[in-house]
Amino acid sequence: MRQVWSAVVTSALAATDPGQAVPWWRSGVTYQVYIRSFADSDGDGMGDIDGIRSRLPYLVSLGVDALWINPWYPSPQADGGYDVADYRDIDPAFGTLDAAQRLIDDAHAAGLRVVLDIVPNHTSDEHPWFVAALDAAPGSPERDRYVFRPGRGPGGELPPNDWRSVFGGSAWRRVRDRGDNGDGGDGGPAQWYLHLFHPKQPDLNWASPDVRAEFLDVLRFWFDRGADGFRIDVAHGLAKDPALPDLGIDHEGVLGPPDRENHPHWDRPEVHEIYREWRRLADEYDPPRMFVAEAWVSSVDRLAAYLRPGQLHTAFDFDAVRSPWDAADLRRTITSSLTAHQRVSAPVTWVLSNHDITRHLTRYGRPTPVGLQSAGSEELRRGHGPTDVALGTRRARAAILLELALPGAVYLYQGEELGLAEVEDLPEELLADPVWERSGHTDRGRDGCRVPIPWSRRGPSLGFGSGPGWLPQPAGWGELSVQAQEADHTSMLWLYREALRIRREQPALGTSGSAEPDGLTWLDLAPGVLAFTRPPGFTCIVTAGAESAALPPGRVLLSSVPLTDGRLRADAAAWLVTG
Ligand code: NOJ
Repeated sequence: MRQVWSAVVTSALAATDPGQAVPWWRSGVTYQVYIRSFADSDGDGMGDIDGIRSRLPYLVSLGVDALWINPWYPSPQADGGYDVADYRDIDPAFGTLDAAQRLIDDAHAAGLRVVLDIVPNHTSDEHPWFVAALDAAPGSPERDRYVFRPGRGPGGELPPNDWRSVFGGSAWRRVRDRGDNGDGGDGGPAQWYLHLFHPKQPDLNWASPDVRAEFLDVLRFWFDRGADGFRIDVAHGLAKDPALPDLGIDHEGVLGPPDRENHPHWDRPEVHEIYREWRRLADEYDPPRMFVAEAWVSSVDRLAAYLRPGQLHTAFDFDAVRSPWDAADLRRTITSSLTAHQRVSAPVTWVLSNHDITRHLTRYGRPTPVGLQSAGSEELRRGHGPTDVALGTRRARAAILLELALPGAVYLYQGEELGLAEVEDLPEELLADPVWERSGHTDRGRDGCRVPIPWSRRGPSLGFGSGPGWLPQPAGWGELSVQAQEADHTSMLWLYREALRIRREQPALGTSGSAEPDGLTWLDLAPGVLAFTRPPGFTCIVTAGAESAALPPGRVLLSSVPLTDGRLRADAAAWLVTG
């Protein structure tokens, strides 16, 4: 069976990767599927694998090269599936292993690669390893797979150090496995375990050979089933300073860049050896499998360190996400990203939105935020004034033309191609993101960008499923549905389709264009205007700060707004064939 598929797969994938000269991940466009909210095939309100399968034709018609699926493993869902109880199976809410295999095979047959999500920093507290660790004595090999420590103070009633969970509160929880009496089971005081995220997400101990071997085996399990790669969750978090020194601070941003050199639990040098081992495994496959890291680090140079030869292939570039909508800021950020990545011969991986941050249409519709450059995902979620949806939409249209014209790879987050805004008025009682509870109800969390996708104008969940979705869609989303936008060639959906089609066809862009910074030359046209050329004869021009801009001579391929008198108005972008 696998044999037959591989013949089909090879021919279908070859069609999207002419000559196989450039590995697809250097310039591929990957669509992020947040599985809970993409498409629900069985009407239980939760998206699932068969739902994704039913929408593969949509992804093909959109024109992407790959899909990345957020975690689909068995999970108590304390953090949207990032609390994994079994890395080699599928959560019944999403389907079965067979359904997963069918999806991978069908995606391949349709010419799409499949990137899965690996969560190596922590497991669920319901993972058999953690259950066994709670049953075992302090100092046991079972406990050594996690970070257990005695507490401080008389009786050990204080946490081992002052580290904070990124979801709020202490990063330590005391073991309560012996009839809730606080007794560690060996007569001594009960230990504490580390959870940098939710208490139901105990951190693994990556100094343990068991942990290293287990994850290599999990990667193999999915690579053998055809997974083309993995997105690595919290890739910067795995290694911890064994001395567990105090941080001496109250709070760090959720998924924010670490605020110091030699941080005891973020971006430590020891993580790189782990990825060298993973790379060796990925390279054993034909074609080689790939990785994309989620790493919130303090500079693009530190990000590039993950992409040195022999390590990871790609890593999300969050600097551009953090850049204000301003031509000079954008140019500075893009240049520094390209330069840092060129030093390690890696492509930049551009991203505007994901399931952790406020949708970019909403961010761009707010008054320009000050100091966002250094923000983590928390800052990217907080309100910075009221949202002007029309302005946000204009800028989002321009932003995607900018992003798709740059050298490198691109990740799209489901729904951005429909121009969805953040849903900021979800009823509090429906908020499912643990951030809401853990912050003491001060931070509404990330549910606003996780609302189910509207596929049709009508229906209990606008075509997402046959019943209501797990989060309600706002009034008005029927007109943003795929069905409504299909019929309107001026829609956001058609802009994305056209841009992706041209990116495939233009010799300057995509797989044919260079993924290196020297594949781009900046033009100094006017303040507030961002413009660059890419060989041969392609120009992208963006107004971000200027009232309008004269278009350079050439043939317009695509523009984010109708053009008047050869000029581009504010907050817009155009692609031209020039020279
Ligand atoms: C990053 C994921 O994108 C986010 O959704 C999750 O909460 C944390 N990692 C913890 O796994």
